[in-house]
Formats: sequence, structure tokens, C-alpha cells
Amino acid sequence: MSNKPLTWLSCVQCGKVYGRNERIYACPDCGGLLDVTHDLAALRQRGVSLELFDQRLGGFERWERSGVWRFHELVAPEIPTTDLVTRGEGNTTLYDVVGDLASYVGHQRLQLKHEGENPTGSFKDRGMATGTTQAKHLGARAVICASTGNTSASMASFARLSGLIGIVAFPAGKVALGKVAQAVAYGAICVEVRGDFDQAQRLVLQAAEELPVYVLNSVNPYRLEGQKTIMFEMLQQRRWHVPDWVVVPGGNLGNSSSFGKAFQELYEMGLIDRKPRIAIVQAEGASPLYRSYQENFAPLKPMKAETIATAIRIGNPTNFAKAVRALKSTDGLVVQVSDQAIMDAKAKIDAAGIGCEPASAASVAGVKVLIENGYILPQQEVVAVLTGHLLKDPTNVIEYHSGSLANIYPTFANRIQQIDADLKQLAFIIGESPTLS
Ligand SMILES: Cc1ncc(COP(=O)(O)O)c(C=O)c1O
Ligand SMILES: [Zn+2]
Repeated sequence: MSNKPLTWLSCVQCGKVYGRNERIYACPDCGGLLDVTHDLAALRQRGVSLELFDQRLGGFERWERSGVWRFHELVAPEIPTTDLVTRGEGNTTLYDVVGDLASYVGHQRLQLKHEGENPTGSFKDRGMATGTTQAKHLGARAVICASTGNTSASMASFARLSGLIGIVAFPAGKVALGKVAQAVAYGAICVEVRGDFDQAQRLVLQAAEELPVYVLNSVNPYRLEGQKTIMFEMLQQRRWHVPDWVVVPGGNLGNSSSFGKAFQELYEMGLIDRKPRIAIVQAEGASPLYRSYQENFAPLKPMKAETIATAIRIGNPTNFAKAVRALKSTDGLVVQVSDQAIMDAKAKIDAAGIGCEPASAASVAGVKVLIENGYILPQQEVVAVLTGHLLKDPTNVIEYHSGSLANIYPTFANRIQQIDADLKQLAFIIGESPTLS
């Protein structure tokens, strides 16, 4: 067997190559984003196959049972399986959308991949499994991230689990309650930055230059290797049958970028014979990618972001260039949706018994728009990603249903009704009459 590396870092802008253990977050030459690149031909020769991944579904090793590490060879082939950090992440449900929700969306062939079912309640756990594994591999002592909430909740947990110090920087007052609670509870050093997410992110990148901390934001390409597995697992659940569309909310654009990479790699290895089209959905008030897309992928113009979906309240997305690459390589597109559409879609997803946080519902609101505008055709198969759990943002749920959210009409409100401890009052509310008396 040759000693040629199986994995290296490469610049998406100038193509320059660096060793996989270099502690860099951007190309030292041109400042471009970095990819973790694998020698796909060598991996194929070593027996990587869909059958191998399927066999592991019945495995007993902890890493085999992880929805990330089941795909070890396509994620971090050079890290021994004994060194992989895992909380059993992934293995999330792929729901068939039926009934009222299907009617609301206007499509009968929609599935929802619910990443809110991860251990800390969001897709971030996949990228943190790989990110903290790499941090340990490099001998880091402390990891840091800026966060609209879920990244910090996840990093705080994985840091503790793997013996690292976690440091999280939030935009003050702009993070949903459940997420702040998690980061505090998991014992991270929590810092509220007076400013927005984009300012917190800049501070963290500065810290990476000056302080002994390893950055686990999605600028770190090892994060995206974990997030790729959302798509590997989704395809596996569909018996490797490729859908026509994959629809995903876009904030910092890490997820969508990683999906493009996932499909490109499987395609290059000959493991799938076509790629789905990726549709990225942004909130109207936080839509720098949408604006660029409208102008034929004009250079990114950062904007001041505002949306009720705080997880995607990002005006200067780190992974812009990678997301554009993903869109181009899958004939993808970008749509924007209003906060009202996000909240109504969320109410419908919640009432279907599935539930998600606001940013997640952007994907379903996006599917609805794409169907109404004739981009998604009735016979096409669509997978939309729900990125976070309903309980992440309980304040938002109660305010929607009680009609107290500013500028949002509670179209599908389920109002809480107060009664005395009286059977007649209860019977009246449920539209029945008591049989006795
Ligand atoms: C629930 C949720 N959805 C979507 C996103 C956006 O993902 P990305 O930054 O990968 O575009 C985030 C990011 O924090 C999130 O927490
Ligand atoms: Zn470069």
C-alpha cells in the first residue's frame, strides 16, 4: 500500500494544496476557503462501496452506529476508528409527508429529513463529531465558535464529551432560549457579544490568529465533512435512489455547500449516476445569496440581516463561494421566503406531529413557493431538510399561537383555553356533552 495521503486540504479559489493537519482556515496564499479533499479513486480501490455502508447498519461498534462515522472512509479516512468522537449522531428520520401538510405544500412526493432529531437537537452534531475529532487529532485544548445558537449548543456538548474546553460567542439578545440554555448547561465558556452574528464571527476569527483556540465554525472544512453525511444517510434511507430535489435553508451556507460536495463525491466515485438539484431557501431579510443569484451570481454584497428565524439571521455568509459551487454543479437555485411564510409553514409542520424550529420551516416554505411557481413538478421527488428541533425556540411557538408576534398573523393558531376544573366547560370546549347528568 502506498504512503500517498488519502486526504489533503485544497483551496477552492486557487487550487493550492496543503497537508491535512495544517491548522489553517483559509488559503495562506489567496485567502480562499479550504476543502477537505479525498483521493476518491484510491478509496474506491480500497473497497469503498454502498454495500459496505449498508453492512454497517447492523454493526455493534459505536462508530458504526453513528450516522456520520458509518461513512468513515468518505469523511476522515486517515483517522483510526478508535479516535472518532461520537454521540451516536445522525440516524434521523426521513418522514413521508402526507395529509394536511402535503395539501398545504401542494405536493404528494415530499420527504422531510429531520436533523432536529440529533443528540443536541440540530444538524450541527454531525459537523461537531468530525470537528472535535479533528481538534483532538491536532492536539487542541480549546475550541471556539460564533453562533446563532445551534453551533454553540452542539460544540459545547461535543467539547465536554471529548475533554476539550468550549468557548462560544453569541450575538447578544438574538439567540433562541433553548440554545443558550444548552450551551450554558453543557459548561461552555459563554460570551454575549454586543453586535450581530457577523461581528461575533469576525471576533472569533481574530481570536484564532492570536489565541491558542481551534475554530469550529463552518469555515473549518472538517465541519462540512460531517454535514455531508446528512445526504449520504438520506440516500441510504432511500435505498440509494436519488431524489429530484433537495431543499435546505441557507444561513452561513455550510450545509448547502456540504451537500454539493457529498453529491459530487458519490457521483465521481460512480456510486450514484445523477445528482439532485439543490434549492437553497433564505429568509427575505437575510438573503445575500438570493440577491447574488438573481444577478447571475454577482459577488457577495453583505447585508444587515433581520428575520424571525434567528438561526439564519446572517448577512455575510462564510461559505458563499462553496454554496455557489454547489448550486452550479447541481443546476440548483435559490428562493427567498417571508417571515410570515416561515411561521405558517412551521405551524403546519408542528401540527403534523413532526415539529421544527423556525429556520427549518424555511425549507418547507421554499418547497411551496417552488411548486407554486412551477419549478418543482408534480411527479418529482423532493427531500427537504429540517435543521433543528421544535424545542429550540419555545418562546416563538407560544407567541405565534397567542398572536403576540410583531408583524406576524397567527394563521394557524392553536390557542390555549383556560377553564375552571369543571366537566361542563371541558365538554363544551371539545364539542361533546357529558353522558351523565
Ligand atoms: C436550525 C438551523 N437551520 C439552518 C441553519 C443555517 O445553516 P447554514 O449556516 O449551514 O446555512 C442554521 C445555522 O445555524 C441552523 O441552526
Ligand atoms: Zn488559494
